[in-house]
Amino acid sequence: MLRSRRSVLAVPGSNPRFVEKARGLPVDEVFLDLEDAVAPLAKEEARRNVVAALCEGGWDGKTVAVRVNDLATQWAYKDVIEVVEGAGDRLDCLILPKVQDPTEVVWLDTLLTQIEKAMGYEPGRIGIEAQIENARGLVNADAIAGSSGRLETLVFGPADFMASINMRTLVVGEQPPGYEEGDAYHYILMRLLMAARTHDLQVIDGPYLQIKDVDGFRRAARRSAALGYDGKWVLHPLQVDAANEVFSPPQDDYDRAELILDAYEHYTTVEKRGAAMLGDEMIDEASRKMALVVAAKGRAAGL
Ligand code: GLV
Ligand code: MG
Repeated sequence: MLRSRRSVLAVPGSNPRFVEKARGLPVDEVFLDLEDAVAPLAKEEARRNVVAALCEGGWDGKTVAVRVNDLATQWAYKDVIEVVEGAGDRLDCLILPKVQDPTEVVWLDTLLTQIEKAMGYEPGRIGIEAQIENARGLVNADAIAGSSGRLETLVFGPADFMASINMRTLVVGEQPPGYEEGDAYHYILMRLLMAARTHDLQVIDGPYLQIKDVDGFRRAARRSAALGYDGKWVLHPLQVDAANEVFSPPQDDYDRAELILDAYEHYTTVEKRGAAMLGDEMIDEASRKMALVVAAKGRAAGL
């Protein structure tokens, strides 16, 4: 079964207090960041903190990932080697940021394979999440999504993305002034969604930086959840419940989905019919598929 990723908590790897706090938060995934939340001069110490935090444990029930630095930096290779050699058996995924090209993911896949062999780890267990954060990454999203069997999700990086395309705003996740009547994110979100689903990957929305504005977070989260996104990054405990709630199906929808599945199963197997009525609604194989999506998310959310 796919991992649940309704809420993906970003934690700066350089801040042991935040790391400690993260253990107690009810998020589906935690990632310890070595990239943009860590100052250049703190990168090496952050690596050591991250390895220690993984080895100490306390992450039960959560997917645990580390975001390494991007391939254009001097830090990327050592991030991967030190973290995976030091704590690869405790790690579920690596997040590779600013991916522009499939060869970057292939590089990470190959390096992981080498480290797994050297360390005697289970081959291929560590997954990859590819963060798409600029126009080139978006244009290459299909090839990126198909570039490695380790890939589990594509992740939208709205802050870097908006900067990279010169979008005229300073508020991440909100509409740029002058474009209020449309949704400036629609194309990007849809494009990533299509690339991800083409390769059976999950797709995760990025951060909302106004951490005190929980209504704003909810609004942005609803937008990507409605399209089919699996979850969203959270930066602060205030955003956690909202993410878990918005990316779980409403109870009524979940109950209805289970009802559709039961009814469809009955009609197709017992009565051998291809379509049937459930109240006033006709249900067929396509309805079953839609219901399966909602039911799977509801079951994962423990509804
Ligand atoms: C996250 O990394 C972002 O750039 O939004
Ligand atoms: Mg970024």
